[in-house]
Amino acid sequence: MSISEALANRLTVPLIAAPMTEVSGPDLVIAACREGVVGSLPTHNAATTGELDHWLTRIETALSEVPRSAPFAPNLVVHRSNRRLREDLACLVDHGVELVITSVGSPEPVLAPLRAIGCQVYADVATLQHAARAIALGVDGLVLLTAGAGGQTGWANPFSFVRAVRERFDGTIVLAGGISDGVALHAAQVLGADLGYMGTKFIATDESRADNDYRRALVEASLDDVVLSTQVGGIPASLLKCWVDRQAGDAAAAEHPASEGFRQDRLLSNRTAWSGGHSVSGVDAVLSVATLIEKTAREYEESRARSVARDSSAVQAVR
Ligand SMILES: Cc1cc2nc3c(=O)[nH]c(=O)nc-3n(C[C@H](O)[C@H](O)[C@H](O)COP(=O)(O)O)c2cc1C
Repeated sequence: MSISEALANRLTVPLIAAPMTEVSGPDLVIAACREGVVGSLPTHNAATTGELDHWLTRIETALSEVPRSAPFAPNLVVHRSNRRLREDLACLVDHGVELVITSVGSPEPVLAPLRAIGCQVYADVATLQHAARAIALGVDGLVLLTAGAGGQTGWANPFSFVRAVRERFDGTIVLAGGISDGVALHAAQVLGADLGYMGTKFIATDESRADNDYRRALVEASLDDVVLSTQVGGIPASLLKCWVDRQAGDAAAAEHPASEGFRQDRLLSNRTAWSGGHSVSGVDAVLSVATLIEKTAREYEESRARSVARDSSAVQAVR
């Protein structure tokens, strides 16, 4: 297992509650970490770096009261259009965070200051070329964005992507996209990933910052209702078709040309978009974070037990 033992010992299930613009806040992070799942939030969800500082203090205080909790992982958009990158990074360094997940760009500018405080860095990547660059920089983990992931998605097939990266990387691999239950999480591990990202399912929880209409839309949707659009952040994202259809007559939405590339201000001005990945087919109710994690852990353990039983009956058959 390439995940550090110290981290593995703090998890009840090998899962990260993925960072989500607008959706993830301190309540979701605290609830996930309490239950032994890495909680994450994009730093830009706090309106200012000052608010981020308060959020981190709140999370640290709440988790200090829990005997064994998972680490939390702030998510930094490292793209040059993020005007708050330097201030948010300094705030994370002041708080001595243990794990940071970078997205939309090279982690290079943030690696040295985070390493200096002993923080692990996972970088999200959507191609083998990006993975190779991040590996060369010495990241501790890679988040592989694959086809059907919620938010700004990848397009690689998860089977091929995990196998190709595992061949050249001994560090932590996190599979992002399509993990709709504990069985899929177990399958990701069989494939060679250490951890899974689960985003969409955490939107439909009591502790997310999503509004009730959005949560209900996720319960009603299936993977057939997910469409790709560059409308939100300038690069392809998975959105709920009902939300896109509603914007169709909206002049402001039509103003954006299709392939301008990522811009942080554009992402933030569309922060209330209803995104969801193919894993939406696994959303059938709004649950508490604790219930969702308990259910996922049960599915994961049952799937592992079934595969052990299958292996031992195959051995019996050979004898
Ligand atoms: C509403 C929404 C917002 C997202 N915002 C971010 C973000 O700010 N930063 C980031 O790294 N990933 C973001 N993502 C991607 C998720 O972290 C994760 O890759 C994805 O949700 C995993 O796929 P799943 O939704 O199928 O589980 C977002 C996803 C969703 C659904």
